[in-house]
Amino acid sequence: MFQNNLLQNKHILITGGGTGLGKATAQRFLELGAQVHICGRRQDVLTATEHELRQRTNGQPNGKIHSHPCDVRDATAVDEMISKIWSKAPLDILMNNAAGNVLARTEDLSLGAFQSVIGIVLMGTLHTTMACGRRWLAEKRKAVVLNITTTYTTTGSAYVVPSAVAKAGVQALTRSLAVEWGDRGIRMNAIAPGPIRTEGAFSRLLPRPELEDAAKKRIPLGRFGTMEEFANLAAFLVSDGSAYINGEVVTMDGGEWLQGAGEFTSLGRELTQKEWEMMKPKRVKDSSKT
Ligand code: HXC
Ligand code: NAP
Repeated sequence: MFQNNLLQNKHILITGGGTGLGKATAQRFLELGAQVHICGRRQDVLTATEHELRQRTNGQPNGKIHSHPCDVRDATAVDEMISKIWSKAPLDILMNNAAGNVLARTEDLSLGAFQSVIGIVLMGTLHTTMACGRRWLAEKRKAVVLNITTTYTTTGSAYVVPSAVAKAGVQALTRSLAVEWGDRGIRMNAIAPGPIRTEGAFSRLLPRPELEDAAKKRIPLGRFGTMEEFANLAAFLVSDGSAYINGEVVTMDGGEWLQGAGEFTSLGRELTQKEWEMMKPKRVKDSSKT
């Protein structure tokens, strides 16, 4: 899909890059020649991913991977990580992908649950964005930020309220800074994915495997997205090929949220063939021939 030097010489940090969509994207960026940094809370997971991706992309152009244990909720720890990365070479691209989520009735959630999810998703994104942004602005350096949100940022969603609140904040941050920092060479966009099978998301948000079929029925294309599709979109949005896209939230959900939003969508299942026939216009008799 892309020339394999698309991200050559680009230094990129992917938060939550040790698993799921972050890991798949790290692999794609490496294949495209980038220097990739990943971070997460679990050192063992990061080390395993670093080794696996190094082996998988062995022989590929020039990509290199480095991992950093870091909890993005901790602003000081984030600044230390960014300092360490900068001391080798400044970042060109930041992908805010780390997230936390819980499926629960909101009245059952403790304050700690809200703080945990909002801390990771909203404050974590803010910490990395500020740590990189201040350096980019001071150095007059061009850069790109890609935030990963969800399709329920605008609609909200029952049963994932801390995530909905936090991701809506990330969307507002994306659009605000795209304007405020755009004139100084910093682009900021987001991807809003629909369901893509990852252990992290599906184990927490789909309590029974049978619910997968019901979930697919909500998607016009009849399937979940894939990690490869996600990683390719991310590669395009961070590359110079998308240099004029700024402040955009790209939905990648097979049409799912629009299907849920359309007033008449459910009639497709509810009306019978006979009823559709009855809805067709009746032939009007041509009176000039009588
Ligand atoms: C209610 C819960 C809970 C649950 C945890 N808590 N799980 N409350 N229902 N299922 C509460 C705990 O009791 C605790 O409250 C507080 O939340 C923090 O939990 P801990 O386990 O102590 O903390 P922590 O290790 O920080 O865990 C964070 C987490 C966890 C967010 C709760 O799920 C996590 O580590 N997630 C990371 C990965 C992830 O979520 N990936 C999925 C992303 S999918 P107290 O009161 O004791 O402090 C996504 C979009 C999907 O974002 C969209 C699909 C279409
Ligand atoms: P995932 O595998 O659970 O990824 C989340 C990552 O975030 C993990 O690697 C986790 O690593 C890291 N993380 C969590 N808390 C952190 C913290 N405090 N500091 C640093 N890292 C932290 O889930 P995923 O499905 O790939 O999700 C990736 C992104 O896509 C998320 O932003 C999610 O909201 C979004 N998304 C996913 C879907 C989907 O269907 N998969 C749909 C819509 C949006 P540690 O636990 O080791 O810290």
